[in-house]
Amino acid sequence: MKFLIFLGTVRDSTPPRPARLGLRVAKSCLSCLQQNYSDHQFELIDPLDYELDPIFKPQFAYAKGKAPQQLNILADKIAAADGYVMVSPEYNHSMSPALANLLNHFASSSFAYKPSAIVTYSAGQWGGMRAAVGMRTFLAELGCLSVSAMIHLPKAQEVFNEDGSIQEGEDESAWLNYYGRTFNQLMWWASATHQYKEHVNPNELVGDFKTSPTQRNAP
Ligand SMILES: Cc1cc2nc3c(=O)[nH]c(=O)nc-3n(C[C@H](O)[C@H](O)[C@H](O)COP(=O)(O)O)c2cc1C
Repeated sequence: MKFLIFLGTVRDSTPPRPARLGLRVAKSCLSCLQQNYSDHQFELIDPLDYELDPIFKPQFAYAKGKAPQQLNILADKIAAADGYVMVSPEYNHSMSPALANLLNHFASSSFAYKPSAIVTYSAGQWGGMRAAVGMRTFLAELGCLSVSAMIHLPKAQEVFNEDGSIQEGEDESAWLNYYGRTFNQLMWWASATHQYKEHVNPNELVGDFKTSPTQRNAP
């Protein structure tokens, strides 16, 4: 199966230090997933690699094939993925605007009927818990329901090195065990939805709305 790890920070300046703390967190997730689920493929999606127009125009708003190539490539990766890991900092008790903005560029139907895992972090003591609560709603609307276990990383700068490895003095196996609870759930759900789609195509059961969200309205 294929999984995308979305990183939710584009903050390449200080204070607070260090900038892009999230890169360490995303790298730690990538390394944990690659080590423990080596039969599957994982790719880190960094929003800094995507030049998004200042005027918002989602990939699905372009005529077929006319969207910027970068957006088309990422749309294909999202559609081909079996699950997602969403890594977000907490900014003012909310999920990362950079992550929300990147995800908003793609049709919810390309995320739908696949699971996601929520990973939040902060420089402070709550580990992005309040951002995570909002992310559940956001991801549910995309249709990639988040698994019940979540990963919250308080004072992430004291846990991870720049390359995503765990700092000396930290109990590495305890951290990997903590990650495993969420990632095992993600793998179970991804495997279940992947296999069941071969029997029942959800898009034949529930049509996506094509022109207007009012197509979902009550009569
Ligand atoms: C605009 C802004 C708002 C922030 N709000 C919160 C917050 O609500 N809760 C929190 O724990 N940390 C907050 N922080 C501190 C972040 O946890 C810290 O800066 C972290 O490094 C951000 O991740 P990043 O470096 O990957 O962007 C905030 C930081 C910024 C820049």
